[in-house]
Amino acid sequence: MTTWKAKLMGVRGLGGPCRSLFIVAVLAYLLGVLTSPAFPTTRRFSDTDVKLQPFQQIISQQISPPETSQGAPAPTSQPLPQRTSTPPRIDDCRKQQQPPGYRMLPTDLITFHTECKKEAMAPEAARKFLIDELFDGVSPFESFPPKEVASLLQPERIKGWGSETTVFRRLMQEVRPRVMIELGSFLGASATHMGSIARELGLQTDIFCFDDFRGWPGFRSGDLADIKQRNGNVMLMNQFMQNVVHRNLTERILPVPFGTVSSLSSFCKWGIYADLIEVDASHDFHSAWSDINIAFQLLRPGGVMFGHDYKTAADKRGVRRAVDLFARLNDLRVEPDGQHWIYRSKNK
Ligand SMILES: C[S@@+](CC[C@H](N)C(=O)[O-])C[C@H]1O[C@@H](n2cnc3c(N)ncnc32)[C@H](O)[C@@H]1O
Repeated sequence: MTTWKAKLMGVRGLGGPCRSLFIVAVLAYLLGVLTSPAFPTTRRFSDTDVKLQPFQQIISQQISPPETSQGAPAPTSQPLPQRTSTPPRIDDCRKQQQPPGYRMLPTDLITFHTECKKEAMAPEAARKFLIDELFDGVSPFESFPPKEVASLLQPERIKGWGSETTVFRRLMQEVRPRVMIELGSFLGASATHMGSIARELGLQTDIFCFDDFRGWPGFRSGDLADIKQRNGNVMLMNQFMQNVVHRNLTERILPVPFGTVSSLSSFCKWGIYADLIEVDASHDFHSAWSDINIAFQLLRPGGVMFGHDYKTAADKRGVRRAVDLFARLNDLRVEPDGQHWIYRSKNK
């Protein structure tokens, strides 16, 4: 006899009340199993509810641009849009002009500087003013080099990058600057080149060289290892000055040995404007962006600003992006010249 038949006969063999009790127990068990959340054939939630809802929520928060009642994008200072009742479809995402999560820069972020002094300092007064303000009234070239650094310097040690290309002579001839600012001078390759051109053209140009003279981390590895340092004090400014002395340009070139942004801000406060400004300090987007924004305020009407690294790939085009964005926002034309870029201020 098979097992199930024996069991059935066992149930049949039970007395009336016991059999009823047994049947009720079996029914109760079956009811419990069928209503359990773990029971596979029961759809307690729809698939859509469980799997898609969080995804839709994220997408709608990231890509739905806030809209005004006219359909124009709302000011970006508004809070991020909350989940919309109709989630966007993939088609809607493709129609977006901006990539997901990307927004226009709020325009107040680019006006991060106060206005420069309206009253410009007379150009011929600027050099003496700076010597008084920065060097206690004595030219830093006086009695240079001091004994303790002389043995650490070379008679001349120049190194530059595109520092003698034709753009320098072209712009010096065109602008004939009385005051010029260079952001990023290093050993003075471009500064001394422009100083020599000014002398050749008979110009009385003051070239103010903004540089913290720290270079960048690790710059002394490789072919610049011969630039000495003592107790962490690298001889960059001293060697720059030595190069200026060697080329007999101490009356035309003056170091401004501080960060570019703080130096520019001070020039702005003092009302020292320039006819020609060269930008060649840090090459990341943010540094180039702030240098360009503040420096442009210091340009005299009809002045020219230019810089290096517009067409070099090494910096992942950080400079180029800053140059192009500033031009777009200020309605300027970017004139490329080899690896250099040029802006011309509009008002003469
Ligand atoms: C590429 S080199 C300049 C080369 C120079 N124009 C030439 O052609 O010979 C960059 C210089 O910018 C300076 N520099 C970088 N960021 C700076 C900052 N934020 N403030 C001041 N100087 C900075 C470095 O110390 C370095 O000397």
